[in-house]
Amino acid sequence: MEKNPPKIKVLISANERLRKLKEAFLGKYEESPLFYACAPGRVNLIGEHIDYCGYAVLPMAIEQNILAAVSVNNSQMIQLANTDPKYKDFTISVSGITIDRENPQWHYYFLCGVKGIQEQLSLSSQVGIRCVVDGTIPASSGLSSSSALVCCAGLVTMEANQQSISKAMLAETCAKCERYIGTEGGGMDQSISFLAEEGKAKLIEFNPLRATDVKLPGGAVFVIANSCVEMNKAASSHFNIRVVECRIATKVLAKVSGLDWSSFQKLGDLQTELGLSLEKMLELVEEVLHPEPYSRDEVCKILGINTEQLSVNIVSANTRHGEVSHFRLYQRARHVYTEAARVLQFKAVCDLAPAGAVLQLGKLMNQSHASCRDLYECSCPELDQLVNICLQAGAVGSRLTGAGWGGCTVSMVPTERMDSFLQTVKELYYMPDARRAALIKQSLFATRPGGGATIFTEE
Ligand code: GLA
Repeated sequence: MEKNPPKIKVLISANERLRKLKEAFLGKYEESPLFYACAPGRVNLIGEHIDYCGYAVLPMAIEQNILAAVSVNNSQMIQLANTDPKYKDFTISVSGITIDRENPQWHYYFLCGVKGIQEQLSLSSQVGIRCVVDGTIPASSGLSSSSALVCCAGLVTMEANQQSISKAMLAETCAKCERYIGTEGGGMDQSISFLAEEGKAKLIEFNPLRATDVKLPGGAVFVIANSCVEMNKAASSHFNIRVVECRIATKVLAKVSGLDWSSFQKLGDLQTELGLSLEKMLELVEEVLHPEPYSRDEVCKILGINTEQLSVNIVSANTRHGEVSHFRLYQRARHVYTEAARVLQFKAVCDLAPAGAVLQLGKLMNQSHASCRDLYECSCPELDQLVNICLQAGAVGSRLTGAGWGGCTVSMVPTERMDSFLQTVKELYYMPDARRAALIKQSLFATRPGGGATIFTEE
């Protein structure tokens, strides 16, 4: 695997999308772009809500991406525009970037990427940037459009300042800086956006970041279906509440195990420290945690702290304002440890490719969805309905993908059933609802593993 993002020369006139973007850029700034950068979205095949607990996940990049045309100058300003008129122009000084968490607008994601790379490089002087962005990833759909925008901006900032950073470092920097917008994501989206390779899904492991090829078995296709329920991670606190519940579960389990609980944040780190298997961690969860939700008072009592300490040190900014009074520690920890095991099983089935591999993978995907729905509670009625329809339509496995609470499902469909699958899902989920029917083209499609973030220059 090459270390740095590829730089490719392209004939702009031969690529309809690049040609149109170049025209838009010329129309806007009356000059030609110097280079282009793109970063893909992703679909996670299995391993949901476990990256921020330190566990490996198994995504692949999709063909849909964020593409930016860029020129540089010495104005010390960043000028941003988007080909979609819904997203307004924005200008800011390179040295005065501020990100408003309360108001997660599109350009803040871009600015997260710029700021992250600025800090990573500690540049003494910075170029001004003019940029037009064009995105094909449906927003708020669980396909990582926001992280792709952060990654694209990071790549733009690196290239505009004529610097070179490895893909792994870019991924880690972009994962960290997306937190400026307030979401405590785990790094899967940024990692696959940079480390993806065409034709391959990847097992992504963290700390240190590693990506291992996963060869998907033949005979089946992955199909994405959007529930058409929008979920904006940064605008709601569901996501961060789950991060906090996992953190509290870690601390309670650490305390009961006689460890210095204050130094543990992730369920994965706790497993490493205890040196136990995932099965043993599940036994510990059964022994120590109760299925009834924990009140703030109960957590404080167990850890021997007061509510102020709980709020400030453990509960994050997004969830601090008293909106969460109960934490489902047993359910969240059970999900994380079982899901972590399913990722390893999925990878093992892909590696061995036994007869019936497709069915085995489908089963793991179904178990993953059930766990997301029942234990992690990150599904919603429409996603559950869509998963059921997909299974009824012939998928061997189907699950929500990404953060959940809306967005997309991913289904594994035997190749020979593809046509009837698409037809049935269309009839049962999309056609009965005018809004969904209008969105069907970008909402229901087969996908294959796409390549990672790339820089293009004109040939
Ligand atoms: C979001 C986050 C990821 C990951 C998923 C859930 O996409 O950005 O880091 O936590 O949700 O698996």
